[in-house]
Amino acid sequence: MSVYAIGDLHLHFQSELKAPGQQGGVWKNHEAVFMHHCGALLRPEDVLVLAGDHSWGRNMAECEKDFAYILSLPGRKVLLRGNHDMFWDAKKTAALNGRFEGRLFFLQNNYYPYRDYALVGTKGFTFEGPFYLNARRQVVDWDRAAEAHARQLVDRELARLRISFEAARKDGFRKYIMFLHYPPTNILERESAFTLMAEEYGAEQVVYAHCHGQSRFFDSIQGTLHGVRYRLVSGDYLAWQPQLILD
Ligand SMILES: [Fe+2]
Ligand SMILES: [Fe+2]
Repeated sequence: MSVYAIGDLHLHFQSELKAPGQQGGVWKNHEAVFMHHCGALLRPEDVLVLAGDHSWGRNMAECEKDFAYILSLPGRKVLLRGNHDMFWDAKKTAALNGRFEGRLFFLQNNYYPYRDYALVGTKGFTFEGPFYLNARRQVVDWDRAAEAHARQLVDRELARLRISFEAARKDGFRKYIMFLHYPPTNILERESAFTLMAEEYGAEQVVYAHCHGQSRFFDSIQGTLHGVRYRLVSGDYLAWQPQLILD
């Protein structure tokens, strides 16, 4: 029994593809490539965490075929909310869990038990700019209004993440893997409220997605910092091979 993770499937079986960069290269037939890798790797008892940005559909009706695909993947599927997941009203996570009970688990304000670990998580948020650069490509300023708005979103996501950790802790869990859709830090930060929360609870790993394309893969932390292992699992970074998180 193992835990695997990957993010950013960006499925669009019945909706419009809104990112032109997701057509060629590693994105070509990515649904089939990913399904093939999953079939070769995952056993029914394994857990597959899908770290957000599941579908380009704007609502549940536009996601039906995407959900049929996700349901057909092997393993027990745990879903995180991505910034593009319009079908997922943050206030209706319990309703989604009711609707897909026993088939999919939606991770927000709750946790998923795996052996003596709790898989905790939330969408997260990171202020990604715009940053303004000088001629030497040094950051000299940034969009302060966007940054102020980002602070509100970060606070809301931190509250949700704490609810997730506390629900697990209340049930006796002391070992945690923390999942985010957004990277825990932006290109200017060395730590953030999310990395501090991971350290506060003693999370062993922080697993995140959202960063697409060569130029974005190293926007945030990779490797070990203050005893926490950080891993990017966006699908194009992994070339659609699910990342082993826990064996
Ligand atoms: Fe994405
Ligand atoms: Fe995203």
